[in-house]
Amino acid sequence: MAIKFLGTGFYVPERAVTNDELSEMVDTSDEWIMQRVGVSRRRVSTYETASDFAFYAAKSALESANINAEDLDLIIAATISSDTVCPTVAGTVQSRIGAKCPAFDINSACSGFLFALDTAVSFITRGTAKNVLVIGAERLSKLIDWTDRSTCVIFGDGAGAAVVTSGDGYLASTLYTSGGNQVIEIPAYVGASPFYKGEEKKPFVFMDGQETFKFAVSKIVNDIKYVTEKAGLSLSDIDHVVTHQANIRIIDYASKRLGIPREKFFVDIEKYGNTSAASVPIALAELNSSGLLKRGETVVLSAFGGGLSSAACIIKW
Ligand code: ACO
Repeated sequence: MAIKFLGTGFYVPERAVTNDELSEMVDTSDEWIMQRVGVSRRRVSTYETASDFAFYAAKSALESANINAEDLDLIIAATISSDTVCPTVAGTVQSRIGAKCPAFDINSACSGFLFALDTAVSFITRGTAKNVLVIGAERLSKLIDWTDRSTCVIFGDGAGAAVVTSGDGYLASTLYTSGGNQVIEIPAYVGASPFYKGEEKKPFVFMDGQETFKFAVSKIVNDIKYVTEKAGLSLSDIDHVVTHQANIRIIDYASKRLGIPREKFFVDIEKYGNTSAASVPIALAELNSSGLLKRGETVVLSAFGGGLSSAACIIKW
């Protein structure tokens, strides 16, 4: 069905912030962060925006796919941290790489890249696009309260991208949303209207960590089982698992519950932390460039987060 991957790319900003540096800013320690989350450092922007990250990741994906920007029929970017509401991240990338196709952003928080990929599949299946650039890009550091130890140790900045084209490698997928702000909320700027009398909340990540954790472990296991069965495969047929890099304990739990060996899970959380919509495409691009991913292999992608939302798909590489 529908697509095959032509190429992948990613970009992270240069500045790495270590756990020891954070320990000087808030009451935390390298030991706590490594044990409870699995992050040792994260990349944080000093000048660049989410669109800048997306541009570099897109250039690298086009190079890896060996196609020109003019050959793209659509660009979709998933983000919750665009520095401009308009132009979109996808629109900025379109202009900077010299593409002529339509471009738009979508927001489904940490599941955003997989929602964008599924949208690309729909365009390709309908025949309205052949080559699609799908991006996940975030500058989450602008949405963090850097005095809140329960969130500032978790997140990081960066972007990942993939070029997909018509093919038969998208075997099954699932998308899920349970709307509401009780577990995760990132309020936006309320504006300066003299007429608006609503509450003004700080535009930072508010997350009930334990509730998010429970949601994540249940969805990651059930979504992976669901897409594998829907594709007519069994869990032992899976060669690689690329999940949202939110917490190393979530990945360990999924490996145990699913009985899929831990070595099949690609993990880069230690270096980059949770980069939300950029997390899955960065990990996929790293796995691809490592040479470990071979044509014809079966790969599961899975993500979960704000929304609440989750998504998974199973692909033949
Ligand atoms: N350093 C030291 N102690 C800390 C820190 C820290 N950075 N953060 C919290 N603590 C403390 C708490 O205050 C608490 O102390 P207390 O027992 O004295 O009250 C204790 O550690 C335990 O806190 P918990 O919140 O229970 O810690 P937990 O083990 O649940 O870990 C975490 C918290 C890492 C957030 C975990 O719950 C988690 O990973 N949740 C899932 C996050 C996720 O998947 N997010 C994805 C979506 S994000 C998005 O969509 C934007």
